[in-house]
Amino acid sequence: MKTKISGNPIATIRQNEAYIDGFSTKKMIKEFGTPLFVYSENKIRSNCSNFLQILKKFFPKLLVLYSFKANYLPQICEIIKSEKIGAETVTSFELELAIQLKFDPKKIHLGGVYLPEDTLKLALQNRIGLISVCSLTQLNTLIKLAKDIDNTQNIGIRIVSPKFDRRIGIVSSKDNFMKINDTLSKSPNLKLTTLHSHYGTQMMKPSIFKDNARYALNTVSLMEEAGLSIRQLNLGGGFPEATIMNNNNLEKIGKDISELIKVCGYPHLEIIFEPGRYIIGDAGILLTSVIDVNFENQRWIYVDAGTNICPIWANNNLRFFCANKINSPHNIPVNIAGPLPTYMDVLAKKAPFIKNIEINDTLMILNTGAYNLSWGTLFPFPQPPCILIKNNQLVEIRSRKNPSFIL
Ligand SMILES: Cc1ncc(COP(=O)(O)O)c(C=O)c1O
Repeated sequence: MKTKISGNPIATIRQNEAYIDGFSTKKMIKEFGTPLFVYSENKIRSNCSNFLQILKKFFPKLLVLYSFKANYLPQICEIIKSEKIGAETVTSFELELAIQLKFDPKKIHLGGVYLPEDTLKLALQNRIGLISVCSLTQLNTLIKLAKDIDNTQNIGIRIVSPKFDRRIGIVSSKDNFMKINDTLSKSPNLKLTTLHSHYGTQMMKPSIFKDNARYALNTVSLMEEAGLSIRQLNLGGGFPEATIMNNNNLEKIGKDISELIKVCGYPHLEIIFEPGRYIIGDAGILLTSVIDVNFENQRWIYVDAGTNICPIWANNNLRFFCANKINSPHNIPVNIAGPLPTYMDVLAKKAPFIKNIEINDTLMILNTGAYNLSWGTLFPFPQPPCILIKNNQLVEIRSRKNPSFIL
């Protein structure tokens, strides 16, 4: 019998045991130990193709870039590249990786709060598709560096998103755009092509995507008043994990935004999305062992994966299952703590779980593909190995690292 766990087609049940993409969790942890990250190539590919297929229906000119920061393991980025998705990078490391992996330079974008001169020079030398600036200081640095290039570099402007209390980007105002127009007129090597508005992450409601698009389109018209015209509109990322955001919602986002673009009179714009979590979030599962239980006052269990490798601030839709007793009802609340000696190391409070939990049981944590490795901390436990299920085989794509790697 094969039954999906929490709606994820790669997590299935066979004889009271959880399987990941056809592989027994018991066998995997016997071979690799816990904690263990498991990724599925099949799920990464289906997330990529699903995203492209649905949104292509609404945007004849569509560019999708994978947000490397969600998970930058090279083998994962390579799979995504082969699905014809580009790279959205924020650091030198990510930019170098995208170049090394031979992403089409036109489909590599760089943008972020901190873009040191070295990073900008690397981007200019490699003639990447776009450098998106999010402050006038960054724009001035870029203008200084672009004096030495003999080609034209496309640039974008990231605006502060309409979400309350946001701070990253240039404030959308005619005054600012007039200043930018004036500054750019003295820099013939830079061409403004793109407006960038990333609203936030884990946006569950389609209406938020529409609000962001509406705000961005109003900004396009402000820019025109200031004498600036663009050909690309980058609406950022923010999509929940693919099993959480159903296809109907993705369709709704595409439909609403495409209608808005027509109504506002900009049907010629190329639309860019930069999903991270949607592509990799539910393609990654963390396996961890129960190392202790304490049911004296409240129901607490302790596992060998803490917030150091499963950061709760990453906002993932974590789902907890007992992999070796998967058929037991998961309906008794339990608190789940990691191995770090701090009260803050709590993965979940009152998560529905099984009743008869024992030491050495295996916990399977779904939706841990995005922002776990990239946003974890260096608490000196070993870093877990990462395995990729590829062509029906288990491939170790990152070996266990002893804490000495920190030094
Ligand atoms: C500019 C930008 N684009 C894309 C993303 C990816 O977001 P998500 O993983 O929520 O899709 C982020 C994440 O913070 C971002 O800052």
